[in-house]
Amino acid sequence: MHSPGALLPRSFHLSSRQVRRHLIRWFEREGRSFPWRAEERSVKQPAGAVLHDPYAIIVAEVMLQQTQTSRVVEKLPLFLERFPNVAALAGASSGALIRAWQGMGYNSRALRLQEAARAVVGQYGGEFPRTVEELAALPGVGPYTAAAVACFAFGAQVPVIDVNVARVYSRLFYKCHSAGQTLPFESIRAVAEEMVPNGDAYRWHQAMMDLGATICTARAPRCERCPLASECLSANPSDLELFGQRHAAKPEPALRGEPRRIWRGRVVELLRRTHEPLQVREIIDRLFPAELFGDLPVQERTGVLEMIRGLIRDGLILPAVAGGGLVREGGVEENDRVMLPA
Ligand code: ADE
Repeated sequence: MHSPGALLPRSFHLSSRQVRRHLIRWFEREGRSFPWRAEERSVKQPAGAVLHDPYAIIVAEVMLQQTQTSRVVEKLPLFLERFPNVAALAGASSGALIRAWQGMGYNSRALRLQEAARAVVGQYGGEFPRTVEELAALPGVGPYTAAAVACFAFGAQVPVIDVNVARVYSRLFYKCHSAGQTLPFESIRAVAEEMVPNGDAYRWHQAMMDLGATICTARAPRCERCPLASECLSANPSDLELFGQRHAAKPEPALRGEPRRIWRGRVVELLRRTHEPLQVREIIDRLFPAELFGDLPVQERTGVLEMIRGLIRDGLILPAVAGGGLVREGGVEENDRVMLPA
């Protein structure tokens, strides 16, 4: 809890109670069902009870950070079937894990998730710790994931702030003049802490996330359907054009017009499919067939080679040499072969 009144805008004092009531009522009507919500036993639990399996929550939240919700809905149950608990994930080979992550993108998340699982097994005997601080100290677990597990699995009374939640609070309690305007997490933290209803932190955040995903969206908020429009400082802006604007996102490193991460994913996907080592030259030729791309200029080829070296540095692929170590200083060359880890 914050010291009374600290950093809280006047709008908060005026409308927070109504906001709570309206949003929870809306969520009861319109809330979405998802596999990671299914095990919910009760929203009001005595202290110490578990709302959800923390393992399923951490997997779901890591997946949801960079993958579309509909894809996670499809993949999460398969992943949990393959690795049903934290010990199974901790004991998996990197290769099996990267294969199971198929279709999710950003493959290094799978390895980071496994590091966390190994620490839960190694440091906590396989029982997830319950506090944000302990969870955040696990390797590969950032402040968002730590708060999400504490709140969604254990019902901790803590704010869980992702970009959607930050956007909803920004618009609600501050006057935003364009769709891209969102206050930094630190600026809305006081509001986010005060807003969490007593004993109902889990349901509150699921409701906020649903509102942010379906109504208070980044590009085109549907204020006319929003249960909080009457309390919202930014609703129904008189200059509607303002809500059409977006801040330009920082451009991602790209290759031939597509983000480098997409090309990285394609390299991993090629190796997933072949089940055997491939020569780097062959990978480059398959990714950039001459019929489509012509002869890649040397500089571009070097860029692709460097991207493949990056995958090796991240542990997603290995040079196929005895012992698995790097072939030479500077990393693999086009004649070398690479593969998924065993
Ligand atoms: N995005 C991240 N976490 C989520 C959740 N628990 N429900 C819906 N969308 C989410």
